[in-house]
Amino acid sequence: MPNRTLTLGEFLIDRPEEFEYDNAELGQLLNAIRLAGKVVSHEIRKAGLVDITGTIGSTNVQGEEQKKLDVFANEAFINTLTNRDIVCGIVSEENDEMISISGSDNRNRNKYVVVMDPLDGSSNIDVNITVGTIFGIYRRVSPVGTPVTEEDFLQPGNLQVAAGFIAYGTSTMMVYTTGNGVNGFTLNPAIGTYYLSHPNIQVPTKGNIYSVNEGGYVHFPQGVKNYIKYVQQEEEDRPYTSRYVGSMVADVWRTILLGGIYFYPPSTGKPDGKLRLLYECNPFAFLLEQAGGVATDGTQRILDIKPTDIHQRMPFFGGSKEMVEKAMTFMK
Ligand code: AHG
Ligand code: MN
Ligand code: MN
Ligand code: MN
Repeated sequence: MPNRTLTLGEFLIDRPEEFEYDNAELGQLLNAIRLAGKVVSHEIRKAGLVDITGTIGSTNVQGEEQKKLDVFANEAFINTLTNRDIVCGIVSEENDEMISISGSDNRNRNKYVVVMDPLDGSSNIDVNITVGTIFGIYRRVSPVGTPVTEEDFLQPGNLQVAAGFIAYGTSTMMVYTTGNGVNGFTLNPAIGTYYLSHPNIQVPTKGNIYSVNEGGYVHFPQGVKNYIKYVQQEEEDRPYTSRYVGSMVADVWRTILLGGIYFYPPSTGKPDGKLRLLYECNPFAFLLEQAGGVATDGTQRILDIKPTDIHQRMPFFGGSKEMVEKAMTFMK
């Protein structure tokens, strides 16, 4: 049995290089996120026993029906970050507008803003399949002590100071980067402690899995159709295996661990695909790159795109370097 002794708390203290910018504040912020992750994990584990599955009867700004656990997870993260007075603003998938946190004296001096997808893959909750929370952290660009502005959130992903996700799967895991590689921690639910289980994660440069919702095939651009034909050809190491969970957290985490390519392409009805740039594409693009992988919108690096809207969508092609680069040759 592997020896899991280093906890996330110890890891955060032991590695000052994790916090190039502001050791104490960013560490506390990651602590708040890992705590909220435990609260959400505990709640999700009760699904099916108490009345927490199903929809709540409202829709979010993207026109999606909100699930009870979407709302629970959103409130858990917002309340934890607000009560700990550790950020000055939040953008969430479930809130139309950015949230400005004024602080006790109306002059919030916190330096960081958080973007988040509180519950990713929520259509999978009711069927007991992995869901997750995705987050990205930026330094605000507006002056400390003034209310946050949208510009604080409309920063390219290459300015993220940290990003990661918590997956509520067969186990609960928190995986994050502060720009010094990627490390994964698994929660021991009996004692509520995350242990370092996946140190210094590297994406294999090549894999044999492709992951896409192929039901949309007829609506994909010709380049994407041609690439799908390519992965299915009997040639060298092809055809590749197909895997698609429908929770980005699960699909990209598998891609990071085993290698492969995950993509959500543009389509005739959805020219920018479905995934949201701020709180889905950018955090995973940062993680993938930090683990030696690649993330593009089909033609350019995700992390270099300057967002224009907090809920903007973006096509996404991420995973093993060789495979994503190959896919891009079909998009030209
Ligand atoms: P969310 O549940 O946060 O709205 O995100 C759903 C996203 C993502 O998790 C997943 O990869 C994708 O939607 C699945 O979309 P399709 O059902 O169109 O494949
Ligand atoms: Mn949603
Ligand atoms: Mn999502
Ligand atoms: Mn979501």
